[in-house]
Amino acid sequence: MAFDTQAINKQRQNLADYDEIWLFGYGSLIYKVDFDYIASEYAYINGYARRFWQGSHDHRGTPESPGRVLTLTPVQGERCFGRAFKVNHEVFEQLDHREKNGYLRHEIPIHLSNNRIVNGLIYIASPDNAAYLGEASIEYIAKQIFNSSGPSGLNRDYVYELEAALKEHDEVDEHVFQIKSLLKSLEKS
Ligand code: SIN
Repeated sequence: MAFDTQAINKQRQNLADYDEIWLFGYGSLIYKVDFDYIASEYAYINGYARRFWQGSHDHRGTPESPGRVLTLTPVQGERCFGRAFKVNHEVFEQLDHREKNGYLRHEIPIHLSNNRIVNGLIYIASPDNAAYLGEASIEYIAKQIFNSSGPSGLNRDYVYELEAALKEHDEVDEHVFQIKSLLKSLEKS
């Protein structure tokens, strides 16, 4: 079931209080940058891993046939590579709309270049949101992604574009790469 978080996110942080705001993207925010930003650099966060456990009823699927997109799950010792954007607080109107299906804004330490660590923001869809689909085998996930599409395009393109962006930076993510391989096999069958 779709779950609109826009009103909740507006109450979560007082964005006007930040001297500078950094946003960390780990999924489509890495490769689909349709918002204004002041600066951007590749970065990482600790303690989380990417998983295709969040339902997409609005971008890569439909309410009747949701696709699967990424969220993060806590995993000790894990490092998640992504992209950090320095943004103005006005941009969250657009970002909250884009990430509205189940994602809440959280504060997180972001590791930038030159050993700089900033307390930034991240969108995470947690297991208690109504659009959450949860854990499944990678074969099941790949099949669902293969058969899904929505207003933002084919669900499989979300995986392919992310995989390409990670490879460009020599980053390995087994969960993403295995699902990508299964999707390529499904395309051939
Ligand atoms: C993100 O990219 O950081 C959030 C999930 C998404 O929009 O794919």
